[in-house]
Amino acid sequence: MIAAVRARVSGGFGVGARFLGDEAIAGGSDLADACAHGVAFARAGLHFLSISKGGKFDDAKQPNVGEAAYPYTGPSGHECMPTVRSDARGPFGRNVPLAAAIRAAVRAAGCDTPVVTAGGICDFGQAEAILAVGDADYIAAARQRLADPDWWEKMRRGRGSEVRRCIFTNYCEGLDQKHKEVTCQLWDREFAGEEGARAARSADGKRRLVAPPWQPATAE
Ligand SMILES: Cc1cc2nc3c(=O)[nH]c(=O)nc-3n(C[C@H](O)[C@H](O)[C@H](O)COP(=O)(O)O)c2cc1C
Ligand code: SF4
Repeated sequence: MIAAVRARVSGGFGVGARFLGDEAIAGGSDLADACAHGVAFARAGLHFLSISKGGKFDDAKQPNVGEAAYPYTGPSGHECMPTVRSDARGPFGRNVPLAAAIRAAVRAAGCDTPVVTAGGICDFGQAEAILAVGDADYIAAARQRLADPDWWEKMRRGRGSEVRRCIFTNYCEGLDQKHKEVTCQLWDREFAGEEGARAARSADGKRRLVAPPWQPATAE
């Protein structure tokens, strides 16, 4: 499959895979399997390995009649996208040990394929520490990037105090589950003023569709 994809894209096109470091279901693949998968993917020439966890249909809640099953409703789904209320550990950096173990296995096999980690990463210091100890080569973020699409640029420019921090309650995921346009609750909460009133809205008219635009608070 990797060879077929590579054959269809230009030489300058990066081809990687996001796969599960642990399926987090009974009888599913675990970290040892994921290390073997990572080594095989690296040897097959993927440009990056991005590690996720859980989020399986196998243990998803039975949907209502006429609705589709949604993979983040069971225990493995909670492992994929934990909230601040999931358990005492919370969502923060929870998948890093998976990425670190897969990266170690890939390096031991003699491959230098970059490994990406994601899951509850929302803060520059946290991201930097993961990279500094070599647990991963790249940081990715779904919810923090949704909450603040300018997060990366704010970090690059040292604008930490201007970051809109995700609060990890999964309002966005609830919308996705209902097949509604995915937006972030913070966009509406913090920007309900004049600019918010002008912004494009969701089909039900209740939510803004894009993040509020960002301008640095002070000149650089
Ligand atoms: C609204 C939403 C939809 C998502 N859909 C998918 C998906 O279709 N496939 C997938 O592998 N992960 C999906 N994810 C999970 C993310 O890839 C990621 O593993 C998870 O959100 C944890 O990272 P985070 O804490 O940075 O959000 C989704 C996440 C969000 C917030
Ligand atoms: S709605 Fe926004 S704040 Fe809430 S979890 Fe999603 S991205 Fe984070």
